[in-house]
Amino acid sequence: LASIEVDVSSLEPGMSLTVKWRGKPVFIRNRTQKEIDDAKGTQLSDLKDPVARNANLPADAQATDVARSAGEGKENWLVMIGVCTHLGCIPLGQAGEYGGWFCPCHGSVYDTAGRIRHGPAPQNLSIPQYAFTSDKKIKVG
Ligand code: FES
Repeated sequence: LASIEVDVSSLEPGMSLTVKWRGKPVFIRNRTQKEIDDAKGTQLSDLKDPVARNANLPADAQATDVARSAGEGKENWLVMIGVCTHLGCIPLGQAGEYGGWFCPCHGSVYDTAGRIRHGPAPQNLSIPQYAFTSDKKIKVG
C-alpha cells in the first residue's frame, strides 16, 4: 500500500498537523519540552497499556516515552494514528487532564505520548511505520 511523504518543516514546537494515510488521520506533533518531560516523568507501572504499540519497534517494546517518540535525538516528534483504540473516534489534541488527547465519544484520556491513561480505550494510540527521509520530511508507511 502507498506511503506518503509529509513536509514537517513548518511545525514549531507545540504545533501539530493531521494528514490522511490509508483512509485514517495521522497526527504529527512537534512536542514541547514540557510535554516530553511530563511523559518521561510517568512511571511505566502507572500506564494502563505498557506496550509501545510502535510498528517501528519489536511488538513487545515497552511504552517508554522514547519508544513512543521518533527515538533518541528526535524525541520531540510524535507520529500516531489518530483513531481512538476504543471504538474508533478521532481524539481531540492538547485536551484532557494530561494535556495530550481526549476522545469526546466516551471520554478516553491519552497523555502527551499518546498513551491511554484512563477511560474505556484499551490501548495506546498506535504508531504507524514511518521514517525521516530528511530533517524536514517524514515518510509514513
Ligand atoms: Fe474513544 Fe470510545 S471511541 S472513548
